[in-house]
Amino acid sequence: MTEKGKKLYEGKAKILYETEDPNWLLVEFKDAATAFDGKKRGIIEGKGVHNNRLSAFFFAYLTRNGIPTHYVRQLSDREMLVRRLEIIKVEVVMRNVVAGSLAKRLGLPEGTVLDEPVLEHYYKSDELGDPMINQYHIRALRLATEEEMTEISRLAFRINDLLRAFLSPRNLDLIDFKLEFGRDEGKIVLGDEISPDTCRFWDTKSGERLDKDRFRRDLGGVEEAYQEVVRRVTGT
Ligand code: TMP
Repeated sequence: MTEKGKKLYEGKAKILYETEDPNWLLVEFKDAATAFDGKKRGIIEGKGVHNNRLSAFFFAYLTRNGIPTHYVRQLSDREMLVRRLEIIKVEVVMRNVVAGSLAKRLGLPEGTVLDEPVLEHYYKSDELGDPMINQYHIRALRLATEEEMTEISRLAFRINDLLRAFLSPRNLDLIDFKLEFGRDEGKIVLGDEISPDTCRFWDTKSGERLDKDRFRRDLGGVEEAYQEVVRRVTGT
Protein backbone atom coordinates (compact mmCIF):
# COMPACT_ATOMS: atom_id res chain seq x y z
CA MET A 1 0.00 0.00 0.00
CA THR A 2 1.23 3.45 -0.82
CA GLU A 3 -0.32 6.31 1.14
CA LYS A 4 -0.72 9.68 -0.53
CA GLY A 5 1.02 12.05 1.88
CA LYS A 6 1.57 15.80 1.94
CA LYS A 7 1.29 17.69 -1.36
CA LEU A 8 4.84 18.73 -2.27
CA TYR A 9 4.32 20.67 -5.45
CA GLU A 10 1.59 21.35 -8.00
CA GLY A 11 2.74 21.97 -11.55
CA LYS A 12 0.80 22.76 -14.72
CA ALA A 13 0.12 19.12 -15.63
CA LYS A 14 1.09 17.08 -12.56
CA ILE A 15 0.89 17.10 -8.76
CA LEU A 16 3.65 15.60 -6.59
CA TYR A 17 2.86 14.05 -3.20
CA GLU A 18 5.10 12.60 -0.53
CA THR A 19 4.58 8.97 0.46
CA GLU A 20 5.40 7.04 3.64
CA ASP A 21 8.79 6.23 2.07
CA PRO A 22 11.05 9.31 1.91
CA ASN A 23 12.70 7.93 -1.26
CA TRP A 24 9.42 7.69 -3.17
CA LEU A 25 6.99 10.29 -4.48
CA LEU A 26 3.51 9.90 -5.92
CA VAL A 27 2.84 11.68 -9.23
CA GLU A 28 -0.75 12.51 -10.16
CA PHE A 29 -1.38 13.38 -13.82
CA LYS A 30 -3.98 16.09 -14.45
CA ASP A 31 -6.21 16.80 -17.46
CA ALA A 32 -5.23 20.48 -17.26
CA ALA A 33 -3.21 21.70 -20.22
CA THR A 34 -1.28 24.91 -20.71
CA ALA A 35 0.78 26.31 -23.55
CA PHE A 36 2.89 29.39 -24.22
CA ASP A 37 4.13 29.60 -20.61
CA GLY A 38 0.68 29.18 -19.17
CA LYS A 39 -0.92 31.95 -21.27
CA LYS A 40 -3.20 29.40 -22.97
CA ARG A 41 -5.16 27.12 -20.65
CA GLY A 42 -7.60 24.30 -21.14
CA ILE A 43 -8.68 20.82 -20.20
CA ILE A 44 -7.91 17.80 -22.36
CA GLU A 45 -10.43 15.19 -21.23
CA GLY A 46 -8.64 11.97 -20.20
CA LYS A 47 -5.14 13.40 -20.76
CA GLY A 48 -4.00 12.54 -17.22
CA VAL A 49 -4.96 8.92 -17.68
CA HIS A 50 -3.34 8.70 -21.12
CA ASN A 51 -0.10 10.42 -20.08
CA ASN A 52 0.23 8.26 -16.96
CA ARG A 53 -0.26 5.13 -19.06
CA LEU A 54 2.15 6.24 -21.79
CA SER A 55 4.83 7.45 -19.39
CA ALA A 56 4.66 4.19 -17.41
CA PHE A 57 4.91 2.24 -20.65
CA PHE A 58 7.87 4.22 -22.04
CA PHE A 59 9.73 4.25 -18.71
CA ALA A 60 9.34 0.46 -18.41
CA TYR A 61 10.56 0.02 -22.00
CA LEU A 62 13.58 2.29 -21.41
CA THR A 63 14.40 0.55 -18.11
CA ARG A 64 14.42 -2.83 -19.88
CA ASN A 65 16.92 -1.29 -22.29
CA GLY A 66 19.37 -0.03 -19.69
CA ILE A 67 18.16 3.55 -19.11
CA PRO A 68 17.86 4.47 -15.42
CA THR A 69 14.48 6.15 -14.79
CA HIS A 70 12.62 7.37 -11.71
CA TYR A 71 9.67 5.09 -12.50
CA VAL A 72 8.74 2.53 -9.84
CA ARG A 73 5.20 1.43 -10.76
CA GLN A 74 1.77 2.59 -11.78
CA LEU A 75 -0.60 2.97 -8.81
CA SER A 76 -3.89 3.85 -10.50
CA ASP A 77 -5.32 5.43 -13.65
CA ARG A 78 -3.74 8.78 -12.89
CA GLU A 79 -1.07 7.94 -10.32
CA MET A 80 2.46 6.64 -10.56
CA LEU A 81 5.09 5.93 -7.93
CA VAL A 82 8.55 7.34 -8.65
CA ARG A 83 11.92 7.69 -6.94
CA ARG A 84 12.52 11.10 -5.39
CA LEU A 85 15.21 12.83 -7.45
CA GLU A 86 17.28 15.89 -6.82
CA ILE A 87 16.12 17.81 -9.86
CA ILE A 88 18.63 19.22 -12.36
CA LYS A 89 17.30 22.54 -13.65
CA VAL A 90 18.13 21.83 -17.27
CA GLU A 91 15.51 20.71 -19.81
CA VAL A 92 16.97 18.63 -22.61
CA VAL A 93 15.26 18.82 -26.01
CA MET A 94 16.17 16.33 -28.74
CA ARG A 95 15.11 17.03 -32.32
CA ASN A 96 15.05 14.76 -35.36
CA VAL A 97 12.86 16.92 -37.61
CA VAL A 98 12.42 20.69 -37.62
CA ALA A 99 9.25 21.86 -35.83
CA GLY A 100 8.02 24.37 -33.29
CA SER A 101 10.52 26.84 -31.86
CA LEU A 102 13.39 25.56 -34.02
CA ALA A 103 11.42 26.32 -37.19
CA LYS A 104 10.84 29.87 -35.90
CA ARG A 105 14.40 30.42 -34.65
CA LEU A 106 16.15 29.28 -37.84
CA GLY A 107 13.45 30.14 -40.38
CA LEU A 108 13.23 26.56 -41.61
CA PRO A 109 10.00 24.88 -42.76
CA GLU A 110 8.45 22.46 -40.28
CA GLY A 111 9.03 18.89 -41.45
CA THR A 112 12.61 19.47 -42.65
CA VAL A 113 14.51 16.31 -41.68
CA LEU A 114 17.72 17.07 -39.78
CA ASP A 115 20.81 15.22 -41.04
CA GLU A 116 21.58 14.26 -37.45
CA PRO A 117 19.73 14.66 -34.15
CA VAL A 118 20.07 18.07 -32.49
CA LEU A 119 20.31 18.37 -28.71
CA GLU A 120 19.34 21.62 -26.98
CA HIS A 121 19.35 22.84 -23.38
CA TYR A 122 16.87 25.12 -21.66
CA TYR A 123 17.01 26.60 -18.17
CA LYS A 124 14.08 25.13 -16.21
CA SER A 125 12.39 28.29 -14.93
CA ASP A 126 8.67 28.97 -15.33
CA GLU A 127 9.12 32.66 -14.41
CA LEU A 128 11.63 33.11 -17.23
CA GLY A 129 9.78 30.92 -19.75
CA ASP A 130 12.55 28.29 -19.94
CA PRO A 131 15.20 30.27 -21.87
CA MET A 132 17.67 28.42 -24.06
CA ILE A 133 21.14 28.01 -22.54
CA ASN A 134 24.36 26.23 -23.49
CA GLN A 135 26.97 24.13 -21.71
CA TYR A 136 28.86 27.22 -20.55
CA HIS A 137 25.79 28.64 -18.78
CA ILE A 138 25.18 25.23 -17.21
CA ARG A 139 28.76 25.10 -15.91
CA ALA A 140 28.98 28.71 -14.76
CA LEU A 141 25.62 28.54 -12.96
CA ARG A 142 26.63 25.19 -11.41
CA LEU A 143 23.41 23.58 -12.67
CA ALA A 144 25.30 20.36 -13.34
CA THR A 145 28.89 19.19 -13.65
CA GLU A 146 30.64 18.49 -16.94
CA GLU A 147 30.60 14.79 -16.09
CA GLU A 148 26.87 14.84 -15.37
CA MET A 149 26.13 16.65 -18.64
CA THR A 150 28.19 14.11 -20.59
CA GLU A 151 26.10 11.33 -19.06
CA ILE A 152 22.84 13.23 -19.70
CA SER A 153 23.73 13.70 -23.38
CA ARG A 154 24.71 10.06 -23.75
CA LEU A 155 21.38 8.96 -22.23
CA ALA A 156 19.40 11.45 -24.34
CA PHE A 157 20.87 10.15 -27.64
CA ARG A 158 20.32 6.55 -26.53
CA ILE A 159 16.71 7.32 -25.51
CA ASN A 160 16.15 8.91 -28.93
CA ASP A 161 17.38 5.74 -30.66
CA LEU A 162 15.28 3.49 -28.42
CA LEU A 163 12.08 5.52 -28.77
CA ARG A 164 12.44 5.83 -32.55
CA ALA A 165 13.04 2.10 -32.91
CA PHE A 166 9.91 1.41 -30.87
CA LEU A 167 7.66 4.01 -32.53
CA SER A 168 8.60 3.53 -36.16
CA PRO A 169 6.86 0.12 -36.62
CA ARG A 170 3.83 1.76 -35.03
CA ASN A 171 3.77 4.40 -37.76
CA LEU A 172 4.74 7.22 -35.43
CA ASP A 173 7.57 9.59 -36.32
CA LEU A 174 9.35 11.03 -33.29
CA ILE A 175 9.87 14.64 -34.37
CA ASP A 176 11.26 16.00 -31.10
CA PHE A 177 10.87 15.62 -27.33
CA LYS A 178 11.85 17.09 -23.98
CA LEU A 179 13.54 15.21 -21.14
CA GLU A 180 14.34 16.07 -17.53
CA PHE A 181 16.96 14.36 -15.41
CA GLY A 182 17.81 14.27 -11.72
CA ARG A 183 20.26 12.80 -9.26
CA ASP A 184 19.49 9.69 -7.23
CA GLU A 185 22.31 8.81 -4.82
CA GLY A 186 24.77 10.47 -7.15
CA LYS A 187 23.51 8.70 -10.24
CA ILE A 188 21.88 10.45 -13.23
CA VAL A 189 18.29 9.25 -13.66
CA LEU A 190 15.56 10.16 -16.17
CA GLY A 191 12.56 11.87 -14.53
CA ASP A 192 9.39 13.78 -15.45
CA GLU A 193 7.17 12.15 -18.12
CA ILE A 194 7.20 10.93 -21.72
CA SER A 195 3.88 11.73 -23.36
CA PRO A 196 2.22 13.71 -26.16
CA ASP A 197 2.63 16.75 -23.87
CA THR A 198 6.41 16.47 -24.07
CA CYS A 199 6.96 14.82 -27.48
CA ARG A 200 5.89 15.56 -31.03
CA PHE A 201 4.50 12.46 -32.74
CA TRP A 202 3.51 12.63 -36.42
CA ASP A 203 1.74 9.86 -38.29
CA THR A 204 4.33 8.38 -40.64
CA LYS A 205 2.04 8.22 -43.67
CA SER A 206 -0.22 11.28 -43.39
CA GLY A 207 2.06 13.51 -41.30
CA GLU A 208 -0.93 14.16 -39.03
CA ARG A 209 0.06 15.58 -35.65
CA LEU A 210 -0.78 13.26 -32.75
CA ASP A 211 0.41 15.40 -29.84
CA LYS A 212 -0.16 18.56 -27.83
CA ASP A 213 0.33 20.76 -30.90
CA ARG A 214 -3.36 19.96 -31.62
CA PHE A 215 -4.15 21.89 -28.42
CA ARG A 216 -1.45 24.57 -28.83
CA ARG A 217 -2.61 25.37 -32.37
CA ASP A 218 -6.37 24.70 -32.00
CA LEU A 219 -6.32 21.90 -34.58
CA GLY A 220 -9.24 19.96 -33.02
CA GLY A 221 -9.33 16.23 -32.29
CA VAL A 222 -7.07 16.68 -29.26
CA GLU A 223 -8.50 13.88 -27.07
CA GLU A 224 -8.63 11.55 -30.08
CA ALA A 225 -4.95 12.15 -30.83
CA TYR A 226 -3.86 11.20 -27.28
CA GLN A 227 -6.09 8.11 -27.48
CA GLU A 228 -4.59 7.12 -30.81
CA VAL A 229 -1.05 7.33 -29.42
CA VAL A 230 -2.08 5.12 -26.47
CA ARG A 231 -3.63 2.64 -28.91
CA ARG A 232 -0.53 2.45 -31.10
CA VAL A 233 1.98 2.38 -28.25
CA THR A 234 0.28 -0.02 -25.83
CA GLY A 235 -1.75 -1.97 -28.39
CA THR A 236 -5.01 -1.35 -26.48
P1 TMP B 1 9.59 23.58 -28.98
O1 TMP B 1 9.67 23.32 -30.43
O2 TMP B 1 8.38 24.40 -28.59
O3 TMP B 1 10.85 24.13 -28.41
O4 TMP B 1 9.36 22.17 -28.27
C1 TMP B 1 10.28 21.12 -28.41
C2 TMP B 1 9.76 19.88 -27.71
O5 TMP B 1 9.71 20.07 -26.32
C3 TMP B 1 8.35 19.46 -28.12
O6 TMP B 1 8.34 18.05 -28.30
C4 TMP B 1 7.48 19.84 -26.97
C5 TMP B 1 8.40 19.84 -25.80
N1 TMP B 1 8.10 20.89 -24.85
C6 TMP B 1 7.81 20.57 -23.53
O7 TMP B 1 7.78 19.41 -23.16
N2 TMP B 1 7.56 21.59 -22.67
C7 TMP B 1 7.59 22.90 -23.02
O8 TMP B 1 7.36 23.77 -22.19
C8 TMP B 1 7.90 23.21 -24.40
C9 TMP B 1 7.95 24.64 -24.86
C10 TMP B 1 8.16 22.17 -25.26
